[in-house]
Amino acid sequence: MPKFLGEFPSVRMRRNRRFNWLRRIVEENHLTINDLILPIFVKDGMNIKEPINSMPNVHKYSLDRVTEHINEAYSLGVPAIVIFPEINPKLKTKEAHEAINPDNLICKSIRHIVSNFPDLGIICDVALDPFNSDGHDGLLLDNYVVNDSTVEILCQQALVQAEAGCNIIAPSDMMDGRVAEIRKALDSKGYIDVGIMSYTAKFASAFYGPFRDAIGTSQILKGDKRTYQINPANINETMRQVAQNVAEGSDILMVKPGLPYLDVLSKIKEEFRMPTIAYQVSGEYAMLKGAIQNGWLDNDKAIMESLIAFKRAGADGILTYLAIEACNILNKN
Ligand code: PBG
Repeated sequence: MPKFLGEFPSVRMRRNRRFNWLRRIVEENHLTINDLILPIFVKDGMNIKEPINSMPNVHKYSLDRVTEHINEAYSLGVPAIVIFPEINPKLKTKEAHEAINPDNLICKSIRHIVSNFPDLGIICDVALDPFNSDGHDGLLLDNYVVNDSTVEILCQQALVQAEAGCNIIAPSDMMDGRVAEIRKALDSKGYIDVGIMSYTAKFASAFYGPFRDAIGTSQILKGDKRTYQINPANINETMRQVAQNVAEGSDILMVKPGLPYLDVLSKIKEEFRMPTIAYQVSGEYAMLKGAIQNGWLDNDKAIMESLIAFKRAGADGILTYLAIEACNILNKN
């Protein structure tokens, strides 16, 4: 911490805040379009653009319609997207077999997007929840999510996604040892350049609610995810988890949710100096938009303030449902 040099009245902090040009010069952190990653929701069918109740203005798209949506982000310069599938309930089983079907919705989406946007980054979750009839990220045995057999299927899931053309695999399941195993699996099949962005500091959070509505897991989820996601009260445990993920070969770390966990983000960045991404999750989006729709917050200002907070805390990039809107605001100003 630099020493406080001087006292009022010779030092007046407001001097540097006086003019717009000066405020621009002394601005310490900057949000650019390069920082923004857009999550998108896909579903089977044709000509679908379906609203999500708890996420105003966010939609699920069938593949024929998703192109127009991605094109908006792509032409604004958004560097990458993350694809989340809403799987037909009939395809969900206890073994989550659909997760490793090379022709499942996620793989079809990857191929479709690669062929339309060859230089757009494609990131995909690896976790079983969209495919699992229990709504959990892993396989359930006697009401407990089992680790090692889940990791085996996650490796296969990573492989079908890499094979379809996914650039970065993002394990969001929080099983132990999955980063190392997925790295091994990818390397063994020659996918040495497919990266791993692990959801490293992923907390058992209430803020995933709207996302679970969107992909249809809210209604089927048995219990909660506290036996694998981190307790929101724990920072020491989080730092150990991150250290382990780094050692196992994560290329990029992720902190999730975002705004309620800025302390975690800043600590991780400071300690590990790794590329670190914040995920402004569905519930954060819902909070902002809920208040905005009521006229209680100013849309553009609240959005930009929420995003610059991530940069200030040390995020290299931000996964946010506001990516397109933020680009438009940046371009306006
Ligand atoms: C599932 C997954 C979740 C999110 C991303 N991947 C939900 C969960 O863990 O229950 C949440 C994203 C959001 O809320 O925007 N593995």
